[in-house]
Amino acid sequence: MKKIIIASDHGAVALKSEIAAFLKTKNCEIKDMGVHSDDSVDYPDIAVTACEEFKKSGYDFGILLCGTGIGMSITANKIKGIRCALVHDLFTAEMAKAHNDANFIAFGGRVKYSIPVTKMIEKFMDTKFAGDRHERRISKMMALDC
Ligand code: RB5
Repeated sequence: MKKIIIASDHGAVALKSEIAAFLKTKNCEIKDMGVHSDDSVDYPDIAVTACEEFKKSGYDFGILLCGTGIGMSITANKIKGIRCALVHDLFTAEMAKAHNDANFIAFGGRVKYSIPVTKMIEKFMDTKFAGDRHERRISKMMALDC
């Protein structure tokens, strides 16, 4: 059973519910870190809370959502140990796992995607990390963490 953390700001509350419902059909354990209303919040606060929780326990990966996914992904990538991929189609969903071994993926609740976000999440979950030269590249990337 996959253990997944999910969090959004006010720009993606409906998308978060849709994703959580989908993941439950895949028998995943979900930790929903909020938010649960459209009241305005600051996405860096949510991203930090979710990433710190991710680092505490045995989560498989996390999903961060805001209006665009951009603010959440930029913030998450400033946190030591986090590799957050801003995914926008099936190809980037696959590569985020195969080449980058992302531990977070981000989406936007106000973005018009050409395919459902749940399909991209499914692709990410069904993909294996390719290792080999990508391991070396990730090590170089993570060595930049301070
Ligand atoms: C909030 O209005 C919006 O800026 C936020 O959800 C996100 O899109 C930022 O990157």
